[in-house]
Amino acid sequence: MNSERTRVLTGITTTGTPHLGNYVGAIRPTVQASRNLETEGFYFLADYHALIKCGQPDRIQRSTLEIAASWIAAGLDPEAVTFYRQSDIPHIPELTWLLTCVTGKGLLNRAHAYKAATDKNHVAGHDTDAEVTAGLFMYPVLMGADILMFKAHKVPVGRDQIQHIEMARDMASSFNHLYGEHFVLPEAVVEASVALLPGLDGRKMSKSYDNTIALFAPSAQMRKQINAIVTDSRVPGEPKRTEGSALFQIYQAFASAEESAQLAQAFADGIAWGDAKQHVFERIDREIAPMRAHYEDLTHNPEKVERLLQWGAEKARLRSAPFMAELRSAVGLRALSTQAQVKTEKIAKTASPSFKQYREKDGQFYFKLVHPQGQVLLQSKGFLSPKDAGLAMAQLMADGASALDALQAQLDPLSAPARDEVLENLRFMHLNSAK
Ligand code: TRP
Repeated sequence: MNSERTRVLTGITTTGTPHLGNYVGAIRPTVQASRNLETEGFYFLADYHALIKCGQPDRIQRSTLEIAASWIAAGLDPEAVTFYRQSDIPHIPELTWLLTCVTGKGLLNRAHAYKAATDKNHVAGHDTDAEVTAGLFMYPVLMGADILMFKAHKVPVGRDQIQHIEMARDMASSFNHLYGEHFVLPEAVVEASVALLPGLDGRKMSKSYDNTIALFAPSAQMRKQINAIVTDSRVPGEPKRTEGSALFQIYQAFASAEESAQLAQAFADGIAWGDAKQHVFERIDREIAPMRAHYEDLTHNPEKVERLLQWGAEKARLRSAPFMAELRSAVGLRALSTQAQVKTEKIAKTASPSFKQYREKDGQFYFKLVHPQGQVLLQSKGFLSPKDAGLAMAQLMADGASALDALQAQLDPLSAPARDEVLENLRFMHLNSAK
């Protein structure tokens, strides 16, 4: 059965038009990975996420079309994977609410994107939350719902997204702890070897630097953009350096090792920049041109893309609809005529870990965190006063991982899995203490 395969899921926010940096860094490697028959792929257009950053309806729609067409043109096979639009799955916002109710507000306070916004406000002397929408604040919960809805095992993302995957794990384990094992704990996969492409000015290619080369611009425009890549002022005949050359790095992302060695030789032999650019354009265009034709066909016939997405959404809803029904029942949103599920309620009641505080012969104050079944999960060292011990316990409940780190010297060391278990139990206690 399919459900045995490792499920890989990733989302693409539908803002902007894909550029060569997106292609080399995300689209090409992901399409390649999607062909692995041992995995089951879920790829989706994160258009609810796009609303957080963009208030322009026409741009959202246009970007959704361009991104969907780009992925298909680049070889993503909608038959082999589930390719869908987030907003076609009503269970995702529904699950977002269930997760919201098991997510600590403090956890979201620490999300990088939110913290960056509030830090900026502090520096500028503005109110902490000036111009910050609740959407930005809730971003990680929506993303958690994306991932947990399809029980993804692996989530390929950029480095900046790792924290979000960790938060999704937190939400999943809090929920599982309260309501029984429903969610799979996802893992971030960060491809270390993927090339970071420089842009026209040599900095990382990025929309925010306005230094991009569009992936599927008409070929004449791509040639013009490649001609605009910044080079130094060495004249024809003068040897050129490959090191630090944006032109050479962009070439490498498309060429074989042998082709790259040949261009390096031409650099050493003093090739004119104009000729080098011509050569780079031809090499990139050779890879892109066949896809460009497909892309143009799709963007000129949006109904074709729409049909593929509707079909993908149907496949996705075959998973999300029954799972959402299971989750609604698990939390108690049930038809009034059905019997309460004694099993899950018992789990929630009995599985309450607790702190035990005591004094030792040495006169110092100690505590331990005890699992409901009696195992000691965490053991403290001696504190001079009961108040100090109490403060440490409160800090552990409130702050979880960061408190574990801060109090390291006061606690017996933990293995990584033991640490995870401690954190899960602390989270559970924290959530319940708030009720
Ligand atoms: N936040 C991701 C990004 O900006 C996009 C995204 C939304 C995503 N939902 C997701 C990625 C779920 C992976 C899994 O890149």
